[in-house]
Amino acid sequence: MPETRTAGVTGLGMSVPSRVLTNSDLERMVETSDAWIIERTGIRERRIAAPGESTSTFAFGAAVEALNAAGLDPAEVELIIVATATPDMLFPATSCLVQHKLGAKRAAAFDLEAGCSSFIYAMAVGAQFISSGCFRNVLVVGADTLSRITNWRDRSTCVLFGDGAGAAVLQPVKPPRGIFSVVLRSDGSGADLLKLPAGGSSLPTSEETTRNGLHHLVMNGREIFKFAVRAMEEAAAEALRNGGIKQEEVDCFIPHQANIRIIDALAKRLCLPAEKVLVNVDRYGNTSSASIPIALYEAVSTGRIKPGSLALLVAFGAGLTWGALALRY
Ligand SMILES: CC(C)(COP(=O)(O)OP(=O)(O)OC[C@H]1O[C@@H](n2cnc3c(N)ncnc32)[C@H](O)[C@@H]1OP(=O)(O)O)[C@@H](O)C(=O)NCCC(=O)NCCS
Repeated sequence: MPETRTAGVTGLGMSVPSRVLTNSDLERMVETSDAWIIERTGIRERRIAAPGESTSTFAFGAAVEALNAAGLDPAEVELIIVATATPDMLFPATSCLVQHKLGAKRAAAFDLEAGCSSFIYAMAVGAQFISSGCFRNVLVVGADTLSRITNWRDRSTCVLFGDGAGAAVLQPVKPPRGIFSVVLRSDGSGADLLKLPAGGSSLPTSEETTRNGLHHLVMNGREIFKFAVRAMEEAAAEALRNGGIKQEEVDCFIPHQANIRIIDALAKRLCLPAEKVLVNVDRYGNTSSASIPIALYEAVSTGRIKPGSLALLVAFGAGLTWGALALRY
């Protein structure tokens, strides 16, 4: 039997499109205002993919940086998981496109879809392969290009989202470092609250679905808002409890970056002071699966997370799905 090992983050990377879409740009596209968007969401600008760019573009960029940071040759990667709800194509998996671009010749590759919780799910899955002794070098990427499924005429959703990717290399580490507490949940009764109606096997793309705009994301914002606060509070509290840690021991809290009001309400419920809460939704909007790894990357590169720091990651998303993960960096 192989020994049981703890998985830890040994390298991080991120990649976002260079094109910036500001709230004033959106004022020229739909009936909205910079003031409304900032007050109701906290978002000031977001990054939008250029023609020719796609989810694999950013996934690859983030992956290269994460591998370099970990000092890992692509040929040594054994598993690539791309967490995404907007793959380049329905199939083949975007992870295979990334595997090829990287030249990761020995790696298994698959995509994982759990809405905006996908990165937490993918980290949990990747960590299992390390704990079981199956693999030593796992690459987890969270990448989305939501601009491609956004209805740019719907002001209630088009102001919210942005594109990009973040990546983490997982390798065996010595405790107390590593991932030590994971919570994953789902509730499909809320599937209609946030979905992409057409393009799958239940409603294949047709002239009619296109005419009716069913290839665009639809969302019940108010219900998702209420669910988000409740679900992330539950997952974060459970991850702390399972890991035997108290709120005050958390050095950096990284919630899914969807809306500043959701983040503030959550931090208040968890009694976490603002200085411990990572916020970058103002600069990137909601980048879905990329939101947590981009925030984690920024927390480490700005020194808010240092070796030995305790980070608590928590997300919610379509599905419905939600989850949390505690790690010592
Ligand atoms: C979408 C969201 C920002 C809307 O904020 P809200 O405070 O709930 O706003 P409401 O939906 O109640 O709308 C209030 C009013 O603002 C209007 N409005 C919506 N979007 C607007 C915009 N971009 N600019 C100006 N007005 C807007 C609505 O039409 C509504 O007008 P009405 O009262 O005349 O009908 C908020 O519900 C939210 O963030 N929900 C969670 C979404 C999310 O996180 N999704 C991702 C999941 S991973």
